[in-house]
Amino acid sequence: MNVLGAPAAEIGYLVAAVLLILSLKGLSAPSTARRGNALGALGALLAVLVVLTSTDFAGANLTIVLVTMAVGAVVAVPAARRVKITAMPQLVALLNGVGGGAAALIGIVELALPTPLPEGTYLWVEILPEDAALTDYIDPSIPSPVPALVAIVLGIAVGAISFAGSVVTFLKLQGWMTARPLVLPGAPVIMGIAVLTTVATGWAVVVGGSVSLAVWLLVIAAFLGVLLVLPVGGADVPIVISLLNAFTGLAVAATGWALGNVLLLVAGALVGASGTILTLAMAKGMGRPVVGILFGALRGSSTAGSTQASDRPVRSATAGDVAVTLAYARRVVVVPGYGLAVAQAQHTVAELVEALRARGVDVVYGIHPVAGRMPGHMNVLLAEANVPYDLLVEASDVNPTMPATDVVVVVGANDVVNPAARTDPTAPIYGMPIIDADAAGQVIFLKRSMRPGFAGIENALLFAAKTQVLFGDAKASLAEVLAALKTA
Ligand code: TAP
Repeated sequence: MNVLGAPAAEIGYLVAAVLLILSLKGLSAPSTARRGNALGALGALLAVLVVLTSTDFAGANLTIVLVTMAVGAVVAVPAARRVKITAMPQLVALLNGVGGGAAALIGIVELALPTPLPEGTYLWVEILPEDAALTDYIDPSIPSPVPALVAIVLGIAVGAISFAGSVVTFLKLQGWMTARPLVLPGAPVIMGIAVLTTVATGWAVVVGGSVSLAVWLLVIAAFLGVLLVLPVGGADVPIVISLLNAFTGLAVAATGWALGNVLLLVAGALVGASGTILTLAMAKGMGRPVVGILFGALRGSSTAGSTQASDRPVRSATAGDVAVTLAYARRVVVVPGYGLAVAQAQHTVAELVEALRARGVDVVYGIHPVAGRMPGHMNVLLAEANVPYDLLVEASDVNPTMPATDVVVVVGANDVVNPAARTDPTAPIYGMPIIDADAAGQVIFLKRSMRPGFAGIENALLFAAKTQVLFGDAKASLAEVLAALKTA
């Protein structure tokens, strides 16, 4: 189907790359995120069309490509449409793994087929006999293939780590294997050996190894990917997914460089950079170093918290009490958390906030960067309920207003308002910036029990004199408060 000439294809790739960059820009703010998503999809579609119309497929290959794309679409479209918001991290993990795996496989294929190199030269490597050295097949008149080989090897190793690690993160989040940190006996030593073997095998491929050695590299790197993710506790997994996403970007960029494909290079670099920025932002939001999240369990400090309920008494409230408190407040801050997603209470909380605003109460949402279990979790949920973006106030902006706030309603959140992050150096969340709910006049918690949140530690704010707890599923509790508000 070679209907598009090389210059037109280059322009097509450039436009697609620009669309991907504009997409990332759009995704950086909730108000432009939808447009950003659409631009990214358009960029990807354009890239696929350019490849299809500018490649000289040898008959059967095009059929295989089209059938593979159709199968992918038939599987992925319904899966993406049906996925629940709480299962989104698993879906992202799978998609990310597929990207890393594809980059690794392309690397293997590149070693076995005629491979275009940068600067318009060609490394012509026929399908190699078992254990033949790649360098035996290289035309000495062309520039050294070593940099391209290094890029291909990097693509295979990093792509395989990302694929295997993502599969384990998927299994953990889906509940198909334990979400607790799994530390094998002698894990640091096994990990060290796996890292050294991966590097040594990669180097052996570069300096004259065979395609079969490259397949071994893929297998060993995949094992390393599994080892890397096993010790990570369930709720830290979203951060690891983001890190693996950055790895996939690196693998794709390396493959793009080796192929001399500008689009792959740009798209991979964008994914690598944005994944790295997101990983660091999430780790900062949790007040923990990335190394601690990855290797904490290896050092004996498990990242999974306790699920033991506290038996200390608290002051409980009825929906009627809460409705009256809210109806006579001047300023209210709603702090949503993971429980909002579990209860799917986003529409009900939005209705309650609208009802209060209609009564003249000044209400905003206080959004913590790591509330929930994935980046932007609360923004996505509240956008689904059409909450205006200007009502969502970030933690750093809402905190100075807390002393002038009459009531904070904590809906299914816990760790993000736990003062232990400021006061208790032994707490796993120590150092995490929190929403200063304790500085407000009154605090109302909506939760089902006295079980702790993700970090597995008690929240002293639950027992404070200014706090009341309305027990129950957040959606049901909010509906009751809404009903009571109408008669208040
Ligand atoms: P958590 O501290 O996990 O607290 C969630 C609260 O929701 C719990 O107190 C739970 O209590 C309550 N809950 C659960 N289901 C509920 C329901 N149906 N109705 C009412 N309440 C319900 O959540 P958070 O405050 O959002 O903090 C997030 C935590 O996750 C932080 O520690 C953060 O570091 C971590 N984390 C976040 C991310 C990202 S990127 N967001 C990634 C990894 C880890 P009951 O069980 O008693 O109801």
